Amino acid sequence: MNDLDQLVSAAQAEFDAAPTPAELENAKARFLGKSGRVTDLLKGLATLPPEQKKSRGAEINQLKARIEAALQSRRESLAESELQAQLRAEALDITLPGRRRGTGGLHPVSRTIERIEAIFASMGFDVAEGPEIETDWMNFTALNSPKNHPARSMQDTFYVDLKDAEGAWMNLRTHTSPMQVRYAMAHAAKYRGVDPMPEIRVIAPGRTYRVDSDATHSPMFHQCEGLWIGANVSFKDLKVVFADFVRQFFETDDFDVRFRPSFFPFTEPSAEIDIAFRSGPLAGRWLEVAGSGQVHPNVVRNFGLDPERHIGFAFGMGPDRLAMLRYGIDDLRLMFDGDLRFLSQFR
Ligand code: PHE
Repeated sequence: MNDLDQLVSAAQAEFDAAPTPAELENAKARFLGKSGRVTDLLKGLATLPPEQKKSRGAEINQLKARIEAALQSRRESLAESELQAQLRAEALDITLPGRRRGTGGLHPVSRTIERIEAIFASMGFDVAEGPEIETDWMNFTALNSPKNHPARSMQDTFYVDLKDAEGAWMNLRTHTSPMQVRYAMAHAAKYRGVDPMPEIRVIAPGRTYRVDSDATHSPMFHQCEGLWIGANVSFKDLKVVFADFVRQFFETDDFDVRFRPSFFPFTEPSAEIDIAFRSGPLAGRWLEVAGSGQVHPNVVRNFGLDPERHIGFAFGMGPDRLAMLRYGIDDLRLMFDGDLRFLSQFR
């Protein structure tokens, strides 16, 4: 082995011993750098006689090429092992089963409201929504409950720290009945001068609020208002429409409906609507499901309509109650606790 072969072996040994790319570059400098051993050899050429210079020069260049090749191959193997180490560190176990996102579901009250909407839509009713923060006029006055009238205290109202344009405190609507007024006023304005005016037929579901909390009352609950106004719409129509609704909602004919005289300032006459199933777990028990009545002439006037020409009925029912009956739920509070063990049963 001549001196040049020895130098290649030495370089190879140092390169192989370098554990990192940085140390490999240091080893490279010791051979190929400005004052490296190969560079020293090249400098030594200057002292040789011209006839030896050529052959020695060629040998040194070969040597240099072999060292560069050794360097390159070590670089590649270091890069390769670095890559392997990185792959090991970032390994994904693709055999692990994925995490599923649970499928959500509609809240039983939302389902019930959708069901009510579909049934009334099939009977030609529009669906309307309105504000939950309501003016005093819409929630009470327009519905024939003047200020200081004792009927106002039938509803334990949440007032909001906000005054309406008339300077009255606004409230969280205590019922969906203000939607009768909002919808009918808009309808009357839209068809002003059109004779005969198209009938008003609408339901308005939504959240309502009263200061009340126990197993059967929640401070937030739902109502669905219904209103049908035409030239000759009567209590008889209410009976037919409501019984038909109950039949479709509960998917049975096996029930009785009872209209029990009652009082609301905005209807005259007024009635509570009770139903009783003839079979099943609730058989024979009268269940109150809605308040109703013939819309009071004062209210029709507040709609912007002439009560001599436009009459009809309104009702307000409780989707929470209907959901409880349909699904056999016995505590209203379950509906609004947000407990997934309860809610996931309705997916
Ligand atoms: N708004 C009444 C209530 O909350 C229900 C009702 C609506 C009664 C429409 C008659 C007509 O109790």
